[in-house]
Amino acid sequence: MKSVKLNGKYFDLLIDEDEIKKIIRNLSKTINEDYSDKNPIVIAILDGAYVFAADLVRKFDFAHQFKFVKISSYKGMESTGQISLQLDLDISVEGEDILIIEDIVDTGVTLHQYLELLKTQNPTSIRICSFLMKPDAIQKPDLKINYCGKSIANEFVIGYGLDWDYRGRNYASIYQLRKES
Ligand code: XMP
Ligand code: MG
Repeated sequence: MKSVKLNGKYFDLLIDEDEIKKIIRNLSKTINEDYSDKNPIVIAILDGAYVFAADLVRKFDFAHQFKFVKISSYKGMESTGQISLQLDLDISVEGEDILIIEDIVDTGVTLHQYLELLKTQNPTSIRICSFLMKPDAIQKPDLKINYCGKSIANEFVIGYGLDWDYRGRNYASIYQLRKES
């Protein structure tokens, strides 16, 4: 599909399935090398990262534990700047290597705040893998995204787990909000 219509707004194809597969291959290759001698806890951030995480971890060839946390900062198409932790970890991260899987880093506020929280629990290391990031939107320049699938413009996107008010997560490609829509 070249475009999709959701709640009366049009979204145009930005990243198709083939490109997504290629991004997953490249990311997993690097991550497999970096974690070949480690046994990390992989933490995927709900809701948006569920599709990306499912694809990515199936390419991992190192032993790991997998957990979800649920954090949200978005209401509709706007980041609220304040995170709420709706599902927390039920295992200890002390002395563990942590790999966070996120769908998209926008302002960076969500991950910055979550990292501050995680650090108080003394993990050995924390790295971040985000499928997308919006470099023009970042407000936390010291937030290091160790593995980034693709940088995109500061526009709202849906699909591949990303939603607009809980819709559109099922699209296999990424679509960008059409400007005049
Ligand atoms: P911040 O600004 O804290 O936001 O980095 C990160 C979270 O906001 C959501 N987000 C989006 N969701 N389309 C979406 O469907 C977008 O373009 C978008 N930008 C940010 C996302 O949940 C991410 O975890
Ligand atoms: Mg998210």
